[in-house]
Amino acid sequence: MMMTMTTTDHLPEGSSPTELLDDGDVRVLLLENIHTDGAEFLRGKGYQVETRDGALGEDELIEAIQGVHLLGIRSTTYITEKVLDAAPNLLAIGAFCIGTNQIDLAAATQRGVAVFNAPYSNTRSVVELAIAEIISLARRLHEKSTDMHAGVWNKSAAGSHEIRGRTLGIIGYGNIGSQLSVIAEALGLSVVFYDIDDKLALGNAKRCSTLEELLAISDVVTLHVDGRPGNAGLFGDDEMSQMKPRSLLLNLSRGIAVDTAALRKHLESGHIAGAAVDVFPIEPKRQGDAFESDLRGLKNVILTPHVGGSTEEAQQDIGRFVASKLRSYAAFGGTSLSVNMPGINLPADTSKHRLALVHRNAPGVLATINGLLGDHAVNIEAQSLSTRGALGYVLTDVADEIGADVLTELAALPETVRLRQLS
Ligand SMILES: NC(=O)c1ccc[n+]([C@@H]2O[C@H](COP(=O)([O-])OP(=O)(O)OC[C@H]3O[C@@H](n4cnc5c(N)ncnc54)[C@H](O)[C@@H]3O)[C@@H](O)[C@H]2O)c1
Repeated sequence: MMMTMTTTDHLPEGSSPTELLDDGDVRVLLLENIHTDGAEFLRGKGYQVETRDGALGEDELIEAIQGVHLLGIRSTTYITEKVLDAAPNLLAIGAFCIGTNQIDLAAATQRGVAVFNAPYSNTRSVVELAIAEIISLARRLHEKSTDMHAGVWNKSAAGSHEIRGRTLGIIGYGNIGSQLSVIAEALGLSVVFYDIDDKLALGNAKRCSTLEELLAISDVVTLHVDGRPGNAGLFGDDEMSQMKPRSLLLNLSRGIAVDTAALRKHLESGHIAGAAVDVFPIEPKRQGDAFESDLRGLKNVILTPHVGGSTEEAQQDIGRFVASKLRSYAAFGGTSLSVNMPGINLPADTSKHRLALVHRNAPGVLATINGLLGDHAVNIEAQSLSTRGALGYVLTDVADEIGADVLTELAALPETVRLRQLS
């Protein structure tokens, strides 16, 4: 597949606006030990793929990113405006993880750099850990195992419970919350949930209209909310006080959502009988860095280092999923499930010539583009436009090769952010 790339605002110094690239010229840089399936997939498409194990700081990244078209990162490489300014060839960034807070999305969007992530690849991993923890807390497994390692034989049923027939309260009924709901019901739990959006209740789960209602009836409360700013401090002393005595609390969502000092207080008083926490307001940056938390040293508290979604299955799925999104964007202009670009997925048709134009979302842009194509007798065979906030994106298929004069005129439109000719 041949790819002619033209850019306007971010054209590399000294390069031509119609610089030709074929698959073998597409350069990919994958950082942070991304699953090898991702690199293999992209190499299989003929791309030049460089992989590095660790994250890169800003200056190192600026050096490494020169000439790179597709960049893959995980959660510890920060993509700042300065990095984006130094990367004029960059078409897309793949966040081989769930979160995209490490990327300056506004700056990427302004430059027409598409960002993709893997929102669903580790859903099942989180759900399975939550189920394991609910049973472990109810049976006090962690505490008993810790005693045994210390040489203490404490054979007692006191404080150990089955989960069958108990009520699980899920806060945040999104991808993870709703899948947990289905599996928890299969284990004999009654499920109630609270979500700020209207969500379809799965199975026999019941929707609570307020958080208070959920807290009053749940034996186990588990948080699966997203990281919107309003969720900082979502679950504090007040909410914990409203939980049933001797209930359990899980947080595998966002560290900022739970007040850990308040949780310690309620665990020490015994009002909350146990907790499992996977995410923390402040997490160590690197492997081996010290971990500080109010929750250290408490009985029947399972602490895990943000590994809810960390399974080999999830990593493999993320590797394949994000790599295929990068490929689809580079080769066909597909943006479905992009974090920042308007979503379009025009079927790939290699018998046609395709133009991908990222533009400022202003009235009349489509008419201008089509007028310009018409003036040059370029016949449009298929077209799809989508807008999102300040950005518009249009894919146009035409039968005949598009002349350099047309490309130059399209690239020169005041609204054009980025223009590519694909195939
Ligand atoms: N521990 C891990 O390793 C790990 C792995 C994957 C995801 N996560 C986290 O798990 C969380 C859930 O992931 P998801 O894929 O299900 O997200 P999602 O976006 O599909 O679902 C989040 C749900 O929470 C709801 N919500 C947001 N704020 C709320 C509030 N204040 N009260 C009630 N409902 C609220 C939303 O409406 C949405 O339905 C995210 O924060 C994600 O970052 C953690």
